[in-house]
This record gives sequence, structure tokens and C-alpha cells, in this order.
Amino acid sequence: MKYKNYFSVLLFSTAFGIGFAQSPLQLKIDPNVSIAPVSPTLYGLMTEEINHAYDGGLYGEMVRNRIFRKEWSGYEYWNLNQLGNGRARMETGTDGPSKALPTSLKLVVTQASEGNEAGLANDGWWGMAVRPSTVYRGSFYAKPDGITSAHISLIADDTGATLAEAHVPLQGADWKQYTFTLSTKATIKPNQTNHLIVSFAQPGSIALQLVSLFPPTYHDRINGNREDLMKMMAAMHPHFLRLPGGNYLEGDTIKQRFNWKETVGPLVDRPTHPGTWSYRSSDGMGLLEMLEWCEDLHIDPVLAVFAGYALQGEHVVGKDLEPYIQEALDEIEYVTGDTSTKYGAMRARDGHPAPFTVHYIEVGNEDQFDKSESYQQRFPQIAKAIREKYPQFKLIATTRVKEGNPDAIDDHFYNSPEEFFSMVHHYDHVDRKGPKIFVGEWATRIGEPTPNFAGALGDAAWMTGMERNSDLIIMASYAPLFTNVNPGGMQWSTDLIGYDALHAYGSPSYWAQVLFAKHLGSYVAQSSADQDNGLFFWSSTVSQDKKTLYLKLVNASEKSQEVVLQIAGAKHGPASAETLHAASRWETNSIVQPERLVPVASKVQITGASTRHVLPGNTIQVLDIPLQ
Ligand code: AHR
Repeated sequence: MKYKNYFSVLLFSTAFGIGFAQSPLQLKIDPNVSIAPVSPTLYGLMTEEINHAYDGGLYGEMVRNRIFRKEWSGYEYWNLNQLGNGRARMETGTDGPSKALPTSLKLVVTQASEGNEAGLANDGWWGMAVRPSTVYRGSFYAKPDGITSAHISLIADDTGATLAEAHVPLQGADWKQYTFTLSTKATIKPNQTNHLIVSFAQPGSIALQLVSLFPPTYHDRINGNREDLMKMMAAMHPHFLRLPGGNYLEGDTIKQRFNWKETVGPLVDRPTHPGTWSYRSSDGMGLLEMLEWCEDLHIDPVLAVFAGYALQGEHVVGKDLEPYIQEALDEIEYVTGDTSTKYGAMRARDGHPAPFTVHYIEVGNEDQFDKSESYQQRFPQIAKAIREKYPQFKLIATTRVKEGNPDAIDDHFYNSPEEFFSMVHHYDHVDRKGPKIFVGEWATRIGEPTPNFAGALGDAAWMTGMERNSDLIIMASYAPLFTNVNPGGMQWSTDLIGYDALHAYGSPSYWAQVLFAKHLGSYVAQSSADQDNGLFFWSSTVSQDKKTLYLKLVNASEKSQEVVLQIAGAKHGPASAETLHAASRWETNSIVQPERLVPVASKVQITGASTRHVLPGNTIQVLDIPLQ
């Protein structure tokens, strides 16, 4: 959190006559009267492979196309690297180290010696981030013929300087995995214009597969996640991770669904699969890695299971659905079963004997798009099977169903700021006797790759409505969470967090989420305003433990709004404030200006039962007001 002097902003806006939206608004709050409980799990995260969220994003792997998939143009992201009179050519290897990876790249080194090496260079994910005094862990599978040593190095693109290197002795003539480390010196500057070279100083041939390089990861996990992005998610105070969400669960065809069994176990046994957003998934971020992501953030998974419908319309019902129901039951056992169960034992084999805690299971994704309406059959069939074996779990349906009695419905909203401003009362009058609501995907879509301040205003307005209705809305997660900001990195605009190989930043919407999730009480206090200009929103929740009123104020107008706060039982004295403000709705953060808009801490004097307060235009503010 940045601590800038916010008072100067307030004084500036009043002293220099930035006009007021209208006459002072009277906001009455009685923290002693609860109108609804707040869901303790309201804010969470949703994840899917889109915008290079995993490969080229959170998943730490630095090598791109590590399994040497061949496209018509050759082995994308791999090039020959020939020093001096070293010479080599690439061929397709006719075997590989496993059933899942049955081919390889065969490098035929026709001429090479010390100083005249021949080999391969990998571009990484729009470069490779290299930092000083850092140890990188690498590995590869190889089947050498006449070559007894590999030279691995990280090279600066612009100078050709070697930043770190290792020599790896090779033994035998069969497939074998080799490991190495690369250590950088203290003197290099962090940068991302680097590439990896795997080269050889002897003639011969060598088949290669699964060439991998990892930086230090969050909690030092092998095959783990980028530290910066994990820290940014931790700062959002999430309570759950919907995994894997979105179209990624469904696949374009049933064959291309998220087939969890092919995403667990050693990497060499994962065949990889085509995603739904124009690139192939390495499946390095598999089911267990997603669960460990939850573990590292101390949050629970909301486990989404494939429900027999794929994006292009393919679907199965009745008998044909049964194999997929079994697949879902096996998945639930893998996640939650103890080690005496078949799939619990498989999870233990994969390195995680302890089961994960799950409360909610989501059946499918956006099944309202299945024009055949087969979900009306599929949901009850799947729900029955899950409840028979696992009555303890609550089930989420992805659209309204007539049968199957879901515990919650997953509603999705992708709207403009104005649409969200007009929808803040959307859930106010929804029948409380029906299923609960999970707002499993939502975002104010404006700005790219990440939202501008208008997005944050739409989000904040919408969140005030979700908080007021969080007796009904048990969970909510913004989507998409991530985007790689490099050209070609993004498939879906307006994403919460942007990054390249070296840097990451939070959009204004990210900071709005941080503010809202960090200050959330356990019940909604009774409140009312004497006027409604359509651009002023608030949420008032109370923490009984902390004897604090969390008052969130949103002024989506360009002009200042004077608010008279009439709070029963507020203590006289300073209240902590955190304010996110922009000069215009188009202002934003970016990879080059990552912290242009961040919350600013200050104090606001509460002067008893009635406090005059000015909220500048384009402002989202949270006040922590101590109660008597
Ligand atoms: O989050 C982007 C996409 O939006 C998701 O994959 C899908 O569920 C929704 O339509």
C-alpha cells in the first residue's frame, strides 16, 4: 500500500473549485441494525488457461515449446545456434522418453569442437527473466549418440554475454533425464531480453525432449508458480479458487476437455492438450498444481468437473454421459480421498498424501450455451451420482435447472460500467428461498489489456451490490484474472493483472478488489441515502470483533460529491481511509506505469453523529470507522 498525502488531493479539489455533483447527500447508517449476514467467503479467484495465464504466466516454466511440437514452420521458438564453424541440423526424432511424449527433436551435429559449438536456442515466453544472484533449476530428457556432454547457458540477447552456464555429462545411449542448475552473478541487472542455449562441442546426434528451466518459485515448489503473481493474489485476500474454470474446462470438443487424469503425475507422462484460446496447454499446471496453488494461498478449491458438454456444441446424455460421471467421481476422490482410496493413493504417489478440503463442486461451465438444453438432463444425472457417493459436498449448477436441486447457481456478468451502475440492485429482490448465487465470472469490460479507471468504478459499484446481497451471494470471482501483455499474449481484453516475463502490475480494478476484500465485515448494516444520482454507491458492513464499520464509497461522477455521514454510534476521532482516485476515467496502470493508480492511505475525522465528507470525482474509498 502506498502512503501518499491524500489530504492534499481533497484540499485541491475543494480549493480549486472542482464542481460538486449536486447538493450534499445525506447517508444514514445504523451499525447496530443488521439487515443481512455477509458471506465470509465472498471474494475469491477464478482460473482458466487464457491470455497465457499458465504457460507464459503464473506457471514458472521459462522454456517455450519444451516438448518440441512441430508446426508447419518448424519447431516454434527453437532455432539452430551455430558458433564459429560448428554445424548442426534439426530432424524429427522417431521416439521419445514416454508413451505420452512419443517423439523428440533430434539434433544432428555434423561439425563441432570447443569454441565451435552447435546447438539450439529457445526464445522463452517473449524473453526469459533473469535476475542477479539467482539459481535456476533445469532439466531435459536426452538420448545421445556419440555426444558425451551438453553445455547449457543463459545468454543476453543484446550483448551475447553468458549470464549463467552449466556443463552436463551425458551417459549411455538410452533416454534419461538430466538435471542442472544455472547461477547468476550479483552484478547483472534484472532483465528479460535473454534466451537459453543447449549446445554441444562434439559431432554426433542427440534426441531431446522436455527441456525445462525454472526460476525460484513461490514457496520453493518444484514445477511451481511465479512469486510475484502469487504475492499479488495473496494481497487480494481471496477465500477460494474456482478451478479449472471457463471454457478451458469444456474444451472445443469433448476430446479436448480438461481431462484431469492427463494433467497429473510426472511431466513426462502428460501428453499436453489443445486449449480453447488458440494455443496448446503444456499441462504443467495440472490438477495437483492448481490444488497446491490453493494450499499456498490458504484457500479452498471450488472444484469444477467436466459435465459432458463442449464449446462447439458436442454433448452426451444418459448412458453416454456415464464415463464422464465416473471421471468426475474419480477426480473428486483424487482431490479429497484418503490414501486408502485408489485416487487418493495416486495423489500421494504424486507427492501430496494429505487430501484437500472441498466444500463446493461446480458441474460444468456456462451450460446455458448448450442450445439443446441437455443440461436439464445432465445436471440431475451428475448431481445424483455425486450426492450418492459424496453427500457432504454442495453442488453448483451453471444455469437454472428444473431438477437436481443445486445448492447454488453460477451467474456470469461481463458488462460496461454504465450497465453495472444500473445493476447494483440486481439481487436486492431475488427470492431467498431458492439456491444461493455464485458470481463465478464477472468484470466491467473496458480497456485493454487491463481495465482503465472506468472499469474499476463499474466493478466497485457492482461489488457494493454484491456485498449488500451477500446473504444470497456466497462467492464471487472476477474473470479473467491474468493476461500476458506481449503482442499475441491476450485473447480476451480487460483482465485483472497484466505481466511480461519480468514485471507484473495490478489494474485499477485489481486495486478495487484488494480494497473491497480487505475491508469486509460480518454483517450488512442498515443504511439509506436521501437521493440517488445513479453514480454514487456505497456499502456498509460491520465487524463485530473489531467494532468497526467498513464504509465503502464510490463516486463514479466526474464531479466531487459532498456526503453528510450520519452514523449512529461512530466514535469521534480519526478513521483510517484508503482511496483509489483517478483524474479521468481513462487513466490506468500499465506495464510501463504499473503504479500510476494505487490506493492511498489517510485519515478522516469523524465528528460525531454527523460528519461532512467530500468524495472527489472518479473515486473509490474505504473508511474504517471505529464504533463505540
Ligand atoms: O473468462 C473468459 C470466458 O468467458 C470464459 O472462458 C467463459 O466461461 C466465459 O464465457
